[in-house]
Amino acid sequence: LHVVVLMGGWSNERPVSLMSGEGVAKALESKGHRVTRLDMGRDVALKLAEAKPDVVFNALHGAPGEDGTVQGMMDLMGLTYTHSGLATSVIAIDKELTKQALVPHGIPMPGGRIVACEEIFERDPLPRPYVLKPVNEGSSVGVAIVTAEGNYGNPIARGAKGPWQDFDHLLAEPFIRGRELTTVVIADRALLVTELKPKSGFYDFDAKYTEGMTEHVCPAEIPDEITQACKDIALRAHKLLGCKGTSRSDFRWDDEQGVEGLFLLEVNTQPGMTPLSLVPEQAKACGMDYPDLVEAIIAEALA
Ligand code: DAL
Ligand code: MG
Repeated sequence: LHVVVLMGGWSNERPVSLMSGEGVAKALESKGHRVTRLDMGRDVALKLAEAKPDVVFNALHGAPGEDGTVQGMMDLMGLTYTHSGLATSVIAIDKELTKQALVPHGIPMPGGRIVACEEIFERDPLPRPYVLKPVNEGSSVGVAIVTAEGNYGNPIARGAKGPWQDFDHLLAEPFIRGRELTTVVIADRALLVTELKPKSGFYDFDAKYTEGMTEHVCPAEIPDEITQACKDIALRAHKLLGCKGTSRSDFRWDDEQGVEGLFLLEVNTQPGMTPLSLVPEQAKACGMDYPDLVEAIIAEALA
């Protein structure tokens, strides 16, 4: 096959996407495919039209590669591409829209509300502890945890927008104490549960992409009931949103509350494919190595 691996772009997650894309490209080459690496710029439609690939592997993270924009463009061009389509991407990139889509179906997600950035400098939008995050970022970009003692992340007390320059609004959610879990779905099958144990206590950008900063326990050492609940929720969310190829559902679990303490935070439709990423790790634990995983995602796109 001739595969264009679409990567880079201009989101805050550009460096992550370049790592994901390079991993995917090498894996495809190892399988004997012809690969064109395409670092997405504004001329992406032109480049894709010239390349005439059999399939595009979408290795973009963040907007506009994960929010439906690039998907809509490729739909118009009649291109076959991996991962989720336009409508799914529009909803899943937005943590608030995702709640509106999933909570009515009984998927447990944290409450909370959208707040204007200006408001958070004046008063706490929720009782502490709470989390502030952009609705449509990935890799923990711009996430702050505000506790009774102070806050982790972007010091709000500074009264400066800091990393939130680009955002008018943020999502405020109650902070769920306890544990960080994630489940991967590939080809309509929920794989495993991984527990993330960041050494710093917070699974932020550095903890995600710096070797040795986070211990991954896979499969997670949690009760069977919680494992099963994570897998059920991840698969239901994947199907309700209409995800394709792969998705990764991220959870917090308050381990003092049993299954009642389990909350889905979000569904990632373009999950990372870097060497430290969770999709390849769970696939491997299920006996699927990285090149086979990449081919499986492409096979679903071509099916
Ligand atoms: N947003 C990053 C790439 C992830 O979900 O893995
Ligand atoms: Mg995410």
